[in-house]
Amino acid sequence: MNGEAHTVVVARILLPAGLEALRRRFEVREGGLDASREEVLAIAPGAGAFVADPSVPVDGELLDACGEGLRVVANFAVGYDNVDLEACAERGVIVTNTPDVLTEATAELALALTLAAGRRMSDAERDLRSGRWRGWDPRAYRGIEIRESTVGVVGMGRIGRRYAALARGLGAQIVYAGPSAKRDAESELDARRLGFEELLDASDVVSLHAPASPETRGLISEREVRRIGPDAVLVNTSRGPLVDSEAVASALESGSLGAAGLDVYEGEPNVPRALLEAPRCVLLPHIGSATVTARDGMARAVADNVIAVLEGREPPSRVA
Ligand code: 8YV
Repeated sequence: MNGEAHTVVVARILLPAGLEALRRRFEVREGGLDASREEVLAIAPGAGAFVADPSVPVDGELLDACGEGLRVVANFAVGYDNVDLEACAERGVIVTNTPDVLTEATAELALALTLAAGRRMSDAERDLRSGRWRGWDPRAYRGIEIRESTVGVVGMGRIGRRYAALARGLGAQIVYAGPSAKRDAESELDARRLGFEELLDASDVVSLHAPASPETRGLISEREVRRIGPDAVLVNTSRGPLVDSEAVASALESGSLGAAGLDVYEGEPNVPRALLEAPRCVLLPHIGSATVTARDGMARAVADNVIAVLEGREPPSRVA
């Protein structure tokens, strides 16, 4: 098949690290960062490859707008909960993602959130900046030390495993919950597998590394937040729908949750007001993979996947 004849539609944008390789081979149409659903639908017709990201729902309507020549949906992310896999399968469309290249960046950000929330950095900085700091106070901003903590990893996949290794490097005891036993993590990190609720009770830090799915939706709701408890920290760098933000905000307000470090939210970029106003809470705007290395690596992975499929080869990271 002649690659030159294909059109690649990028719903929003792709970084030059991947875009240039695509431009050299194919016609590329980009919607732009602020492309509306209507604008994306309007540029879709004729796509051989469609590049999405987690803010772009890929459903039957969009696939049909691309037309029958569509071969691949390449997601510019490791998570692909925005893509209707069944609708893709029905139309014989391959789906790819960008694993591995963002593992380090996301694990490091989860560790940063653990430390920042665990040490009450948001409240402390806010007080300093607003002129409320009245000098050293031995009672103020007391948090946790990782070395004496049990860190609970929910989802011991690539990112969870790397986060666990970083926390272990600081001296934490590692426990984890997930659908399968991870013997390498158990032997290398001395990690213990627990049931989910047992993990919530046992951990000083609970960090979420599971994909969004109907099964993980609302995984951390009011009851689970209470089990995590008044001295412990909740960290979420996975996907917003895993956590009930209102439950977290009200537990922070009442003191029944120690602290929270969140990078993802349901309905991004909207963040519930209760969370914005909650104490002991570090909030970041979905920057888990925001390093030069990771984002360029993701863009290259998108291009590699698209080129492989449009040239008739198996893509390096196919998910469906
Ligand atoms: C991306 C992510 O930054 O890869 C993922 O699944 O969540 C992040 O790496 C983000 O999804 C891009 O919008």
